[in-house]
Amino acid sequence: MASPDVPDPLGHAQRRHWTLDPGIHFLNHGSYGATPRVVLESQSRWRARMERQPVQFMNDVLPGALAGARDRLADFVRSPRESLVFAVNATEACAAVLRSLDWKPGDRIVLANHAYPAIRNTVRFLAGRYGVVPVEAGIPWPLPGDDALVDAYADALRGGARLAIFDHVFSPLGVVSPLGRLLPLARAAGAQVLVDGAHAPGQLDLDVGRLFEMGATWFAGNAHKWLCAPKGAAFLAVSDAGREGLHPVVISNFYGEGLAWEFGWTGTRDPSAWLAVGEAIDFIESIGAARYRSALATQQREAADLMAAAWGVQPGAPASSRAAMATLPMPIDEPATRESVARWRLHFLREHRTEVPVFDIGGRHWVRISAQVYNELSDFAPLAAAFQPQG
Ligand SMILES: Cc1ncc(COP(=O)(O)O)c(C=O)c1O
Repeated sequence: MASPDVPDPLGHAQRRHWTLDPGIHFLNHGSYGATPRVVLESQSRWRARMERQPVQFMNDVLPGALAGARDRLADFVRSPRESLVFAVNATEACAAVLRSLDWKPGDRIVLANHAYPAIRNTVRFLAGRYGVVPVEAGIPWPLPGDDALVDAYADALRGGARLAIFDHVFSPLGVVSPLGRLLPLARAAGAQVLVDGAHAPGQLDLDVGRLFEMGATWFAGNAHKWLCAPKGAAFLAVSDAGREGLHPVVISNFYGEGLAWEFGWTGTRDPSAWLAVGEAIDFIESIGAARYRSALATQQREAADLMAAAWGVQPGAPASSRAAMATLPMPIDEPATRESVARWRLHFLREHRTEVPVFDIGGRHWVRISAQVYNELSDFAPLAAAFQPQG
């Protein structure tokens, strides 16, 4: 073991901290994250403690342990502590908001054409059940820059809205939204705001308290992606304006007894992923949170440049709109279908030992690369070599 005072350099020297298959170039941290050994060990210790005396654990240990983990996460994302509750994933955290509001027929919900599918579907469900009106911000892709994204939301918000949903980082696009420009638009439109920040914690320098001041009402984030916590660790941060009527999707034994109790107990479940979040933050902080973010951004840019040059293409968004991920068009003419994107992902895995997601965006095939500290630029080379440059 390296001395804790002398951390391993970033890149392949980091690999010993992860359980990832060494035979695979793992370029998809974005989908489900990956968790360092020390964090998994912490989770196992919590589980072992729970199973030694489950009743005492749930009754006497869990409330305090959960509050400690919650405070640690809240401090890391700079949320008021009492505003933050754990969720299993960002889908669940967003659903708690969307299923809690007392919708009236005709209420307008503004969200992007590229919003995450489960969130779009929840809005479709609300439209069918309550007669809310989804209003789509049509974000162009490829994206020329922030202005085009802001203009798309400005157009959609023009008629006013009950709720605006902003994706902090768009899932297939890898694009970081300029919330500093979007939140004032929502405020002017009289809309409450749900920020879907599934990809933000760890990847971006997050200040949830500041986002609340600028007009965000709720912020949903995952700890299991870029904070590298175990899967099933996510949170919902709730501004004062967002408390009324808010309940978890599953109604708790502690209904009406405050956010922490309601969200902390929605029936028996394994809380070990939440309890290991502090260890994940320790891991990121052992690298240095700012150093981690900047290493990912640098690797992403270099990798995107490498791939763009090799494939004779341009990334879908300018470097100024990207952080740890980049999305590039595949240099093929084949129309994208659900079957073809699955087939291409398996092709890259089998033929190039590379795990990378392939998306159908606008009928074309795109890959999204994720940078991570366990990778080096050489991990992107087999994918880059998968196609010859176009004419
Ligand atoms: C913008 C966005 N929202 C929600 C999610 C869903 O995250 P989870 O599967 O953790 O619920 C994702 C996942 O990639 C996402 O990118």
